[in-house]
Amino acid sequence: MRPVVCVAGARPNFVKIKPVLDAFARRDIETVLVHTGQHYDAAMSGQFFAELGIRPPDRSLDVGSASHAVQTGRVMSSFEPLLEELQPELVVVVGDVNSTVACALVAAKSGAYVAHVEAGLRSRDWSMPEEINRVVTDRVSDYLLASSPDAVDNLQTEGYREDQIHLVGNVMIDTLLANLPRARDRSLLRDLRLEPHSYGVATLHRPSNVDDGGMLQTLMAALGTIAADCPLVFPVHPRTRASLSAAVPPGIWLIEPLGYLDFLALQAGARIVLTDSGGIQEETTVLGVPCLTLRDNTERPITLTEGTNRLVGRNPTTIVEAAEEVLARPPEPRRPSLWDGKAGVRIASALLDQPRPLRPTQQA
Ligand code: UD1
Repeated sequence: MRPVVCVAGARPNFVKIKPVLDAFARRDIETVLVHTGQHYDAAMSGQFFAELGIRPPDRSLDVGSASHAVQTGRVMSSFEPLLEELQPELVVVVGDVNSTVACALVAAKSGAYVAHVEAGLRSRDWSMPEEINRVVTDRVSDYLLASSPDAVDNLQTEGYREDQIHLVGNVMIDTLLANLPRARDRSLLRDLRLEPHSYGVATLHRPSNVDDGGMLQTLMAALGTIAADCPLVFPVHPRTRASLSAAVPPGIWLIEPLGYLDFLALQAGARIVLTDSGGIQEETTVLGVPCLTLRDNTERPITLTEGTNRLVGRNPTTIVEAAEEVLARPPEPRRPSLWDGKAGVRIASALLDQPRPLRPTQQA
């Protein structure tokens, strides 16, 4: 088999691609790791490769930051000649960032089979760039590798064929479970002088929450009220840093973005996590830590029905009341099935052990 091209571009991708690379390596399948360079800082990229033991990328596209169209276009025009050179039979993309959709589109037109890890998640919020990326990536993919039954339901409702859909579980949780013991050994809590279960964690980076300074200030004020009872550690994403202007309420401790292991250690020791991230909703569920999601919708509803997550929107009163309730009565820890550390193995099996799915031109 020709080498499988595996694509990663932004921080949440790195955590997802590692178990896929490992699973192919265990099956003696050669991979070419392509880093698009959407995230390029040590804090957003290099540290993740080092801590997770991901080998240096075989190819780097170095696209950097830009508007959506420019960033997506740069990835596409750099990825196309690479595929012409490598002529892969299979390209694997993960998640929902601009690099994901850009590479899926180029790969599909190159004639390669495209596999999308984390297919079928839907927020049904078309104002979210990631939702557009998810829908378009699934549409051009041959293999739809789903992390939860709700994602499978979405794909079936949208008319995808059964031979394309594989419920494989959650690769991000493979990485979490593999690294939790190392994370617990980190000195971060001691270094920050934090007692376990004495603090909360906050993160915000969704454009809808942080690009408008007024909205960000409203959310920071709500966090400030919560921080009066439960101090909050807030690692600041570069996008958020750019819009944080007003004075930060007391009790909120802004720190630089953390590496993977330190952020895992921080979450694992928290009483509560407040976030607008997708992945953190899943990680807190597996860690059994209460999570409040400061959004009006989630593409990961299984964390609400079978996890510790609660959707609280952006109304400050609702956020503060929900935090008070959760701090007084934390939800019971639960974990969705197939979030068991073996998703990477199931992905390799779906891609290697079964006949290739039919293409529309191949159907009767
Ligand atoms: C991207 C993803 C989002 C994901 C997030 C995780 C899209 C549409 N969005 O959003 O789904 O949750 O990554 O972090 O793909 N920057 C740096 N250093 C870097 C990279 C970016 O400082 O290494 C700054 C730049 O100023 C840039 C801004 O962060 O303009 C935003 O980066 P970008 O990749 O465009 O989107 P994110 O907001 O990170």
